[in-house]
Amino acid sequence: MQKKRVAILISGRGSNMAALIEAAKDKDYPAEIALVVSNRTNAAGLEIAKANGIATAVVDHVPFGKDRHAFDRALQTEFDRHRIELVCLAGFMRLLTDSFVNAWHGRMINIHPSLLPAFKGLDTHTRALAAGAKIHGATVHFVAPEMDSGPIIAQAEVPVAADDTPAMLAARVLEAEHRLYPLALRLVAEGRVQLRDAEKSKTPGIEPGVTG
Ligand code: GAR
Repeated sequence: MQKKRVAILISGRGSNMAALIEAAKDKDYPAEIALVVSNRTNAAGLEIAKANGIATAVVDHVPFGKDRHAFDRALQTEFDRHRIELVCLAGFMRLLTDSFVNAWHGRMINIHPSLLPAFKGLDTHTRALAAGAKIHGATVHFVAPEMDSGPIIAQAEVPVAADDTPAMLAARVLEAEHRLYPLALRLVAEGRVQLRDAEKSKTPGIEPGVTG
């Protein structure tokens, strides 16, 4: 099996990144984590990646100012250097340009801490509690130009308890994220889920293509 070469983009703690790194240690896992890139020099996840012998890079967004295209080109340079085939966003808190997203169409995925399309954006757990949601969760989706809107690959449901605080709910969802992301990356790396002609169709552009 030819493993897909994956880059993970992080901005902070990197617990989802760590879950992907652990999953990829299995010799039968269809992806290898070839690179971790952070846009913040002090992201804690960088140390975890290094401790696992994974190449790391920092592409600090600050010097690029408002020039998002230049920032994305710097990311692409790192991807080229490491012959990256798939990209996983894992707590990467930076918007990417449409042209960059389109260049990685069907090859870039993201994890978001809600059951999309509910609660796009930030503070998802606080908003889920305020809305009285009984079921919350996490989503892995293909990245599309519009934030948190690409076709859904997999979701994990998490029950909301009556006395939950945002922190309690976040912790429960995070555990689910750590199970969900390795599963979703496996589906994409094996080609069992593919994005096809999403722009032409109003229905989700997923064709399961499940063989087993
Ligand atoms: C995770 O909960 C992830 O779903 C969320 O940030 C956290 C990162 O934690 N991502 C987003 O909100 C993106 N819109 P981690 O650094 O420990 O993986």
